[in-house]
Amino acid sequence: MWSFWLRTLLVAGGVALVPILFWFGSGPVAGLTVAVACLAAILAYQFWNYARLLTWLGRLNGEASWGDVFYLLDKQTRFGHDRQQKAMADMEQMRVATSALPDALVVLDADNRIVWLNDAAERQLGLSQARDVGQFIYYLLRHARFTEWLTLDSYNQPLQMKSPVVPEQTLLIRMVPMPRNQRMLFAHDITEVERVDAMRRDFIANVSHELRTPITVIAGFLETFGEMAAPDPAAFQKYVHLMLEQSDRVRRLLDDLLALAKLEGDQDMKNETVDAPALMELLLNEARGLSQGRHEVELLMTTRAKLIGRTEELHSAFGNLVSNAVRYTPPGGAVTLGWTLTRSGSAEFSVRDTGEGIEAQHIPRLTERFYRVDRGRSRATGGTGLGLAIVKHVLQRHQGKLRIESVVGKGSLFTAVLPADRVIPDSAPALPPAPEPAGV
Ligand SMILES: Nc1ncnc2c1ncn2[C@@H]1O[C@H](COP(=O)(O)OP(=O)(O)O)[C@@H](O)[C@H]1O
Ligand SMILES: [Mg+2]
Repeated sequence: MWSFWLRTLLVAGGVALVPILFWFGSGPVAGLTVAVACLAAILAYQFWNYARLLTWLGRLNGEASWGDVFYLLDKQTRFGHDRQQKAMADMEQMRVATSALPDALVVLDADNRIVWLNDAAERQLGLSQARDVGQFIYYLLRHARFTEWLTLDSYNQPLQMKSPVVPEQTLLIRMVPMPRNQRMLFAHDITEVERVDAMRRDFIANVSHELRTPITVIAGFLETFGEMAAPDPAAFQKYVHLMLEQSDRVRRLLDDLLALAKLEGDQDMKNETVDAPALMELLLNEARGLSQGRHEVELLMTTRAKLIGRTEELHSAFGNLVSNAVRYTPPGGAVTLGWTLTRSGSAEFSVRDTGEGIEAQHIPRLTERFYRVDRGRSRATGGTGLGLAIVKHVLQRHQGKLRIESVVGKGSLFTAVLPADRVIPDSAPALPPAPEPAGV
């Protein structure tokens, strides 16, 4: 402020000195002429600057008083301030968004030096924004395949590698070109995709294996028949019976595979009222049919509550538990079905047997497809290894869960728990049965 007024005083004094010198040197006329010329020059300079200011404000061709100029300047300043604020808010939003991103992002310069990285890059690649900016990335990610891939400069060929921080994590790394010779590396976690892929491969291998055995047996008998000159009727009977057994096994396996595929394919389940007490009677009869008098089969029903769900699916799930109990309990044992309400309002269907029981280490894996404790025993009794996988799936669709308790040599207790909001207590009015789908 002071320096401004001091400068103004000096310039004014300097300009005033010129006409004064002329006045004393060449007389008053010359002095006054020079003074007028000086004033005119100063005025012209000021107008020129005024015109420049108006041009900058975009008002040179319009009417603009000093008041307008001040108003416009004030508006410009405020606009600039707002813009700066918005730019900063946008930057902050970008920073938050990139740090929330599950994919790791690393910006590299032309020499593969790190320019910037996000939070996921710290978690997945073990890099640090504070420590590693400016470092060559291949010094930090020391992986022969990575270094080789980096030098290839191939933008459309992603690299698959294990995370250097979490060894069980698989990453798919891609590179995309950016302006100013920079490149962005991004790493996507594909562990889950890999796991599902491995499961699919296992599943196909298992199905092929399961189908191969009965088909090989049937083919063997047919070959024997082909070589016989005149079939012996007694042997023929025996072989046909064995072949039927094997074809039955294939049919059961296909039935279970189709049931699983149907459960997986049908995303939105159509609910109806499930007459659980009637279903219990049906299951009791089925259990007695399967047992054919070899076991003591009982039903303990302490509620007549119904359910909201799919009758067909629950029948198949509960039926699997019942058939397992009968099949894995030696003759003379007991199988007890139960239908009860718990204090929290959920409903439980239980199957208790006095069979061989299951060792604790197998229990968490029983619902995996094709997992069996004793493969031979399961096959001998007509098992496919898919029963409990179906049970788990059906219960999941009903927001329920399966509880397994077992003591080797004493027996097992399988309990299907259904949540309270699917239970229609004894006295509550029932839902109308689901309408038949149109056009069927
Ligand atoms: N009640 C049970 N008692 C003993 N073991 C059982 C019982 N239920 C199931 N298991 C074991 O769990 C395995 C998987 O059952 P599941 O999926 O129904 O297939 P499976 O077709 O072999 O019966 C069976 O092979 C058996 O080893
Ligand atoms: Mg089974």
